[in-house]
Amino acid sequence: MRNKSIMEGFLSEMTEKGYKPIKMIGEGAFGKVFAASSSKNKVVAIKTIRGSDKYIKREIGIMQKLNHINCLPLIDYCLSKQDTAGIVMDMYPNTLLTVLRMFSNKGSRFPLFYIKLFTYQIFAGLDHMHLKGFVHRDIKPENLLVDYSTGSLVIADFGSARKFKSGSTMASYVTSRFYRAPELINGSTFYGPEIDIWSVGCVIGEMLRNGIPLFTSDSAPAQLEIISDVINNQTLPEKLIIRVPPDLLDLLNQVLSLNPKKRPSASKCMNHQFFDELFAKGVTLPNGGSLPKLSRRKND
Ligand SMILES: Nc1ncnc2c1ncn2[C@@H]1O[C@H](COP(=O)(O)OP(=O)(O)OP(=O)(O)O)[C@@H](O)[C@H]1O
Ligand SMILES: [Mg+2]
Repeated sequence: MRNKSIMEGFLSEMTEKGYKPIKMIGEGAFGKVFAASSSKNKVVAIKTIRGSDKYIKREIGIMQKLNHINCLPLIDYCLSKQDTAGIVMDMYPNTLLTVLRMFSNKGSRFPLFYIKLFTYQIFAGLDHMHLKGFVHRDIKPENLLVDYSTGSLVIADFGSARKFKSGSTMASYVTSRFYRAPELINGSTFYGPEIDIWSVGCVIGEMLRNGIPLFTSDSAPAQLEIISDVINNQTLPEKLIIRVPPDLLDLLNQVLSLNPKKRPSASKCMNHQFFDELFAKGVTLPNGGSLPKLSRRKND
């Protein structure tokens, strides 16, 4: 009851700032996400967060420092007195998870072209984050917002992100289990951007499997076992069930290296030949529309 009144009070503070909640569109561990209209009559998404001031400010602070077409920008925020905050963002029609579910419900395969287009944008957004010294730590389909009609994707949910410094320790109990890198499952507290690269490998696998996660288990030890089994026995192609083009399989094998040092950087992944097609002359979306703006490739 008390939480309810805090939330109502908070929403009325947001209303005073000109945001009118329309409906709830998501719910997470620390709050709810609403669609709202802004004073300029634009539909925005507002993520409300309850919790310690420190973590709320960290999420807002990280969003303020990022500036990239594939990282969800912060439009506005509101810090309430009662350990509640509102983050105002552009509204996206879907997450990658909901799009994959639509395809699996229709019984049709998620197109390889979109796997290419979306994966490139995940690496481009991560490249920016990693260069700025941040590790996301929760890359998964629910945290990737997409607009299928334009082919654009942004990385969202910076609630687990933090600055990394080589040599300093960080918590190992991060990233949702199915996307958690093996070194984290093993309890490593010295890690860096390579853990996000592993998660992207799991997301690619999930796109290839039409929304079925690549590595699933009901406990951390079982997760490690299934990963080691597939990677050590080189059964990744079989696990993926469908035929995977050789260039994509090559990228996946590198990204899903058990040894984090062997995983390529986001920038190196962007330069992989699997993505060459996106930069070929005259390439369009399958519906004939233009591709979204893509971050330039650079050499590592
Ligand atoms: N800008 C947005 N546009 C559309 N939907 C959004 C947007 N932001 C969030 N959502 C929806 O709300 C869900 C929860 O948002 P988000 O992932 O940011 O919070 P969370 O998982 O609760 O965060 P945390 O990990 O910090 O607890 C998302 O998975 C997505 O479905
Ligand atoms: Mg989330």
